[in-house]
Amino acid sequence: MSAPSKVGVQLVVIDGPAGAGKTTIARRLARHLGLPLLDTGAIYRALALVARRRGVSWDDEDGLARLAQDLPIRFGGLPAPEEPDAAQTVWVGDDEVTTEIRTAEIAEGASRVSALPGVRRALLDLQRALGAKGCVAEGRDMGTVVFPDAPFKFFVTAALGERAARRRADLGATAVGDQPSLALVRADLESRDARDSTRSAAPLARADDAVVIDTTALDPQGVLDLILRRLHGPPRS
Ligand code: DC
Repeated sequence: MSAPSKVGVQLVVIDGPAGAGKTTIARRLARHLGLPLLDTGAIYRALALVARRRGVSWDDEDGLARLAQDLPIRFGGLPAPEEPDAAQTVWVGDDEVTTEIRTAEIAEGASRVSALPGVRRALLDLQRALGAKGCVAEGRDMGTVVFPDAPFKFFVTAALGERAARRRADLGATAVGDQPSLALVRADLESRDARDSTRSAAPLARADDAVVIDTTALDPQGVLDLILRRLHGPPRS
């Protein structure tokens, strides 16, 4: 049984490439609708982190699938209204990993482990269970594989240069290590995009029934307004 949100919407999925603004939008939308947020990228990131800590290689499909099967990941609630873009807290067991999973190294690991079919299979039920009571789910294959029957699907994208600039600002904001150059972030995004889009298992792809939103020239509120218009007609706030 799904808990209806404040405005009657129970499941919204948002897919798209890295740096397109999915996380910011998903957070704000979840808050607006009164639904939990399911950040599935954080699940792949947490798996990459746990693997690194346990000495399991990011190429060891069976070892990773075993870790994924029992990944004790938990998400905190949404940030306070006065800090709408603050990160959602993430735990693995009793260990809070909110900041650690946001480094460039773990992003690379997440992209590598998420390309392995055995890992994706092992995480499918977990994602569905976490979203079972209704949520705003964001990732790469929410509309195509994890929640193919979702009534509202969005595919959020933006020009590569803009995505690189946003991702670099995010990395700077986490204050983990030195801020990398724009060229480096751009090259990194390009190779992650290529891997995320060309892998055989659930590649980044737009569901046929997803609404595409190009966020290149939009601020988060502009994107949120577009989505809310699709969900309910004109936004109320
Ligand atoms: O959205 P993100 O940057 O936190 O995602 C980290 C990596 O996980 C990214 O390279 C793609 C992968 N991912 C995926 O394959 N499927 C998802 N549903 C979410 C993320």
